[in-house]
Amino acid sequence: MEKTFLMVKPDGVQRNLVGEIVSLFERKGFKLAGAKLMQIPNDLAENHYGEHKERPFFGELVEFITSGPVFAMVWEGENVIATAREMMGKTNPQDAAPGTIRGDYGVTVGKNVIHGSDSPESAEREINLFFDESDVLSYSKQD
Ligand code: CMP
Repeated sequence: MEKTFLMVKPDGVQRNLVGEIVSLFERKGFKLAGAKLMQIPNDLAENHYGEHKERPFFGELVEFITSGPVFAMVWEGENVIATAREMMGKTNPQDAAPGTIRGDYGVTVGKNVIHGSDSPESAEREINLFFDESDVLSYSKQD
């Protein structure tokens, strides 16, 4: 079954949106396969956002994502990678449609509440970066 990596960013945790966001994905029908509240160390942040290393906002991005607790999650379900991206809305909350997470709760492109993997390759990479294999569960026997 397909899996993706989703993370409530420091602004979302600070604004008490973790329960709301978990609930949205649960109600959609996806299964929570792994989760942890953590403060991201600098080297993990730089690795996770490595593809943005040359962007002018890279320093700001790393500083923000390491600034407070995040809620890192693995979700499982059919087509979960693309569907979660739809549910999150566009990266910039100002462009995100109402009814999407960023459209409803996001403030700025930096403080945009949630991160989600954008492809099967990045999902695999990001799940492995944040989770030990033994901490990611599977519901496939219950399907
Ligand atoms: P995310 O999905 O976590 O992936 C990369 C992040 O870079 C993105 O969400 C935004 O929060 C952030 N980002 C993109 N553009 C900018 C920008 N111009 N300034 C600051 N952060 C940005």
